[in-house]
Amino acid sequence: MQATICVMPGDGIGPEIVSQALLVLGKAAAKFGHEFTKVDALIGGAAIDACGVPLPEDTARAAAASDAALLGAVGGPKWDAIDPAIRPEKGLLAIRKHLGLFANLRPAALFDELKSACCLRPDIVGAGLDVLVVRELTGGAYFGEPRGIETRGGEKVGFNTMIYSESEVRRIAKVGFEAARKRRGKLCSVDKANVLDVSRLWREVVVAVAGDYPDVELSHMYVDNAAMQLVRNPSQFDVIVTENLFGDILSDEAAVITGSIGMLPSASLGEKNPGLYEPIHGSAPDIAGTDAANPLATILSVAMMLRYSFALETEARCIEDAVSKALSQGYRTGDIMEPGKTKLGCKAMGEIVAGLI
Ligand code: IPM
Ligand code: MG
Repeated sequence: MQATICVMPGDGIGPEIVSQALLVLGKAAAKFGHEFTKVDALIGGAAIDACGVPLPEDTARAAAASDAALLGAVGGPKWDAIDPAIRPEKGLLAIRKHLGLFANLRPAALFDELKSACCLRPDIVGAGLDVLVVRELTGGAYFGEPRGIETRGGEKVGFNTMIYSESEVRRIAKVGFEAARKRRGKLCSVDKANVLDVSRLWREVVVAVAGDYPDVELSHMYVDNAAMQLVRNPSQFDVIVTENLFGDILSDEAAVITGSIGMLPSASLGEKNPGLYEPIHGSAPDIAGTDAANPLATILSVAMMLRYSFALETEARCIEDAVSKALSQGYRTGDIMEPGKTKLGCKAMGEIVAGLI
């Protein structure tokens, strides 16, 4: 097949990890006879430096016109003092909104090879971990209005609005049920319905949607309990569906159980293409430019792109298997390093995985 991919390396370690992911994608394309054309675009701090805004119009246009988009990471201390309206993170939020990417899939699976790199006791992760976090991505407190900081009664107050419409909950709930149906048939909807009105509506709508999925076992959990259950007994979860902010937090927690946040890919999908693929970790400014980053989350994000945007399941598996093989051959980046393993930099890890395609 032929497709165009909009590539947005972003900031910090973004460019390093994206190059390795593209190297691996190139190998897979050559092996299976596909042709992917890259269109480079600026986002985040890199875009602020070049054009004064975190999401230039050219980038928004290029991403919308492509078949899929690959993103590294955005943000860094360089832009911390900048006008909050144009922070690098705004670029990422804006592209998600612009492309209508309301469903964010974050699969947290513990590779067997990394069981001992996991920060939980072996008896706790003994049963493994294979959770898919389905995070709502274009609603909730991230985008809700009103929001702001203003002076009331002589002091400043800050506020955001966690708001969801029935249709927003319904469409993400459906994604959760569909995903559960293709996996182990269990969906856990995470909310805070004991306190928040927005969560009460969330739960009501999820229960209504469940009527169309009698084959999926639905449960509900408050977010505080879910945070605890994830570290207490992670293997109880199959698919978790939750709102934007809760999903942001729980997916970092699920990620680190897999050994490192540097292992987790993600796919952000809307009603139609282009989907956006990115690792869930950030720009790690402290190690940027030192070749110490773990490119595996970005490489696995490319696998998700092949699966979800291009329906190339064999090719996606091929990349995932290559990552698995690199790990079983003992190759590790610093974040997942253990005694007796071979420590590699970002570039060398990319080359090893590419060589295993
Ligand atoms: C993520 C990140 C982003 C988010 C930031 C960088 C805006 O933490 O993708 O999880 O909060 O969604
Ligand atoms: Mg996050």
